[in-house]
Amino acid sequence: MTGMEGRGIYAGYGKIEVLHGASVRAGQGEIVCIIGPNGSGKSTLLKAMFGLIKPKRGTVLFDGQDITHLAPEEKVRLGIAFVPQGRNVFTSLTVRENLEMGGTPLDSKKAVRQAIAEVLETYPLLKDKIPYKAGNLSGGEKQILALARADMVKPRVILMDEPSIGLAPRMIEEVYEKIKAINTNRGVAFLIVEQNARKALSAAHRGYVLDLGVTRIEDTGEGLLNNEEVKKLYLGG
Ligand SMILES: Nc1ncnc2c1ncn2[C@@H]1O[C@H](COP(=O)(O)OP(=O)(O)OP(=O)(O)O)[C@@H](O)[C@H]1O
Ligand SMILES: [Mg+2]
Repeated sequence: MTGMEGRGIYAGYGKIEVLHGASVRAGQGEIVCIIGPNGSGKSTLLKAMFGLIKPKRGTVLFDGQDITHLAPEEKVRLGIAFVPQGRNVFTSLTVRENLEMGGTPLDSKKAVRQAIAEVLETYPLLKDKIPYKAGNLSGGEKQILALARADMVKPRVILMDEPSIGLAPRMIEEVYEKIKAINTNRGVAFLIVEQNARKALSAAHRGYVLDLGVTRIEDTGEGLLNNEEVKKLYLGG
């Protein structure tokens, strides 16, 4: 199978186990969304898949290859990017410097310049902002910058944690339009964690409900949107 998969992941912090056998998969070209209540382990699952925390049991696969124990930077080199929760940009650096940071794995300054030029075509709203400190961007612009920074290395899979949290509806729309465009145009797979379940599920091909550290329900985005239990518990009735 091409794409990324977590199989029976057990992980946590110190003695506390948060994930008790969670399984998710984003095939190449798929947008997959993970929804679930606060504290159910959604961020922990993405961190375990990216290698920021070590799974105690279970397997992380990329194109069918076992990558469970690779470090994050090795996963980046394989084509996996991670956009953490909270519009994670370097606020005291300029937009250009933030993009350069994303380009660190590239092998020359020329390649970085080239990647910045391409990224600015994909995310044109960053063009005018390039010399300014990222701290001055709006919330939505920061989220776009975080995505653009991850996109500097042209990943095949992007793991995104709560891209729409705290954003105005118009910016949520903008972020999801970008995600869908990158997915359609380049076949990039997305594994997205969201509290804004309705928006995420309507953009997703498939989705999972993570509850108490276990993936409980799996269906198409549409199937989950129409699932009575999901509606009642996660979509506000
Ligand atoms: N660094 C950490 N050290 C110890 N416990 C942690 C740490 N990060 C998260 N936890 C705990 O792990 C559990 C799952 O947290 P996690 O952040 O994965 O949940 P989540 O589903 O992403 O929640 P939210 O929707 O609020 O973002 C919570 O009980 C949390 O308190
Ligand atoms: Mg979280």
